[in-house]
Amino acid sequence: MLLEVKDLNLFLSSGEPVAKNISFGIEKGEMLSIVGSSGAGKTTICKAVMGLLGNGCHTEGEILYQRQKLLSLPDRERCMIYGKEICLIMQNPMTAFNPSIRIGRQFEKTYLLHHGKTSHSERMGRLFNLLQILGLEDINRILNSYPFTLSGGMLQRLMIAAALMNQPSLLIADEATTAIDACNRIGLMRELKGFCKEGMSVLFVTHDLRSASVSDRILVMNDGQIIEQGATEQILNEPKEDYTKYLLSACQMERRERI
Ligand SMILES: Nc1ncnc2c1ncn2[C@@H]1O[C@H](COP(=O)(O)OP(=O)(O)OP(=O)(O)O)[C@@H](O)[C@H]1O
Ligand SMILES: [Mg+2]
Repeated sequence: MLLEVKDLNLFLSSGEPVAKNISFGIEKGEMLSIVGSSGAGKTTICKAVMGLLGNGCHTEGEILYQRQKLLSLPDRERCMIYGKEICLIMQNPMTAFNPSIRIGRQFEKTYLLHHGKTSHSERMGRLFNLLQILGLEDINRILNSYPFTLSGGMLQRLMIAAALMNQPSLLIADEATTAIDACNRIGLMRELKGFCKEGMSVLFVTHDLRSASVSDRILVMNDGQIIEQGATEQILNEPKEDYTKYLLSACQMERRERI
């Protein structure tokens, strides 16, 4: 297992639980989707794996990355893992970038942190290549822009590129495709699958069971708890739990109904 989450319990400072008895694992080259309705606790789990929950949240349980206990690693070692080996695509790309620094400069700073020895042309070559794969055009203008002058879909793809720049072993994608139009979304999911074939693991978080269909396994969550987890085929075709059946029927209804 590349990542193992064991008996994770997360509590707010009020004592209220946000996630209860969460256990799952991700193997090298595997894509696992966490699916659940709004407020189920998906983002909080991503933040726990990234060590981003502050003092306002009490954490119990273990998070192992390549058998190392992430939560108790010294800061120096954690800094070598986060942003390089484990990267997060944040749910809200509108607030993830610094509004006062041009996009290109932000990429430069992020990449230099872990790859200080690469040349400027090498870095730019890699960035242009990634942005083209993600379907962005007019790249020079985008890199010279401030974040608030770009569209939500552009920012979301830039966020994805920022996470992929360092070729992480584990990519955590929290609702990474919601602001992207349907055509580009399909292409992006294919790209993510392609990266998995090359060995990258993906934790794909979504509230949409249809988007999760490309993953290898699906974990269904509701109200801070795992409802069921299994192979994608099993969850989509033979769900055991009523909540999963309800989610599936809601997706099918959405496809049929005209609002
Ligand atoms: N820092 C915090 N302080 C107080 N409550 C919090 C905090 N972080 C999360 N919560 C609460 O935890 C619950 C789960 O939130 P979370 O963002 O993990 O949901 P989610 O499954 O990602 O939902 P969505 O699909 O809408 O993104 C919510 O009720 C939320 O209000
Ligand atoms: Mg969320």
